[in-house]
Amino acid sequence: MKNEIYTQLAEKAVEMKKFSQCAYSNFHVGAALLAKDGTVFTGCNIESSSYSLTICAERVAIFKAISEGVKEFDAIAISSDYEGFCSPCGSCRQIISDLCGSIDIILVNNKNETKIYNTADMLPYAFGDDVLNS
Ligand code: THU
Repeated sequence: MKNEIYTQLAEKAVEMKKFSQCAYSNFHVGAALLAKDGTVFTGCNIESSSYSLTICAERVAIFKAISEGVKEFDAIAISSDYEGFCSPCGSCRQIISDLCGSIDIILVNNKNETKIYNTADMLPYAFGDDVLNS
């Protein structure tokens, strides 16, 4: 792992699975987002009986940060009980790209092993505000 801060971020993502509301999928996901000022914003997935209203752990963490005026980030850690590395869904990749820019994306499997990617790995050729503002 890159450094102690990232290890702590991964641990926080693992811890956040306990708050997951996943009655329909039973797939617990936790996320922890590290802001450039050192603040950590956490999230878990929250499901609805109207399935499409479900929100992923990553977006909960990101929207919490944005709603508190924080806009600059270094990394997000994502944890699930999957034996492999659960990577963000397409919607979350777009939101990470739009709202977090180029950050490290730390995936944590069910043995607490980690793999680190970055935004461009996850969403190459991203659509973004550069196109809208051209
Ligand atoms: N989920 C996340 O929270 N993050 C991901 O990266 C993948 C999927 C959630 C959404 C839903 O509650 C459950 O996992 C199954 O799709």
